[in-house]
Amino acid sequence: MMTLVKSYDEMSDAAADIFAAQVKGKPDSVLGLATGTTPIGLYGRLAKLHRDAGLDFSAVRTVNLDEYCSLPAEHENSYRYFMNTQLFDHINIDKRNTFLPDGTASDFEAECRQYDARIDQLGGIDMQLLGIGNNGHIGFNEPAGYFANRTHRVRLTESTINANSRLFESVVEMPLYALTMGIRQIMLAREIVLIAAADKREIVTEALEGEITPQVPASILQVHPRLTVILAEN
Ligand code: PGA
Repeated sequence: MMTLVKSYDEMSDAAADIFAAQVKGKPDSVLGLATGTTPIGLYGRLAKLHRDAGLDFSAVRTVNLDEYCSLPAEHENSYRYFMNTQLFDHINIDKRNTFLPDGTASDFEAECRQYDARIDQLGGIDMQLLGIGNNGHIGFNEPAGYFANRTHRVRLTESTINANSRLFESVVEMPLYALTMGIRQIMLAREIVLIAAADKREIVTEALEGEITPQVPASILQVHPRLTVILAEN
């Protein structure tokens, strides 16, 4: 289902309604979470709903899509830091129930297997939030010759490095590798909510209406049975 909304604020409102309803309906939900500029408005609204309306996250579990390799949790560009500062520090979630791949693990293969096992142990993902990259990536599943199923280490593409290095002090500080959840765990989520600001309009259209191909990783979402896309027009 595709919902066109007028603005980034409306996109954030609509997504917050969906996630709040999920948490109310199933207080111990497993939420798949995402980082980036796109979900910041949504996370702000969830924090407000907690503060003003008592939205209860005490039993919620979360798994994030990805994490940069080699950045410790305290690094302000790590996704753990992002999640803590944008959301977890502002709601009553038990941080021991919040999971991201450990990008500093020396044995990244073992870390990836453990991450997949963790998601399985949690019973899979009830609702997965996604953004989308300009190149069609979801998580850090970059355009490739095949859909990578499992959590894996990925070398980030030029497009992603250009897009994300703006958030680092300089481009040389940006890690070239990341650990990302694979396509399988994303597609096994019982429900998926993809949010996109207006600058992503073209790639969203290509992903949802074009050929299903690993060159546009988000195109696989076309076959998900419960997909909601919220796209801002302006
Ligand atoms: P953005 O990133 O929200 O910062 O645009 C989205 C993504 O790359 O998945």
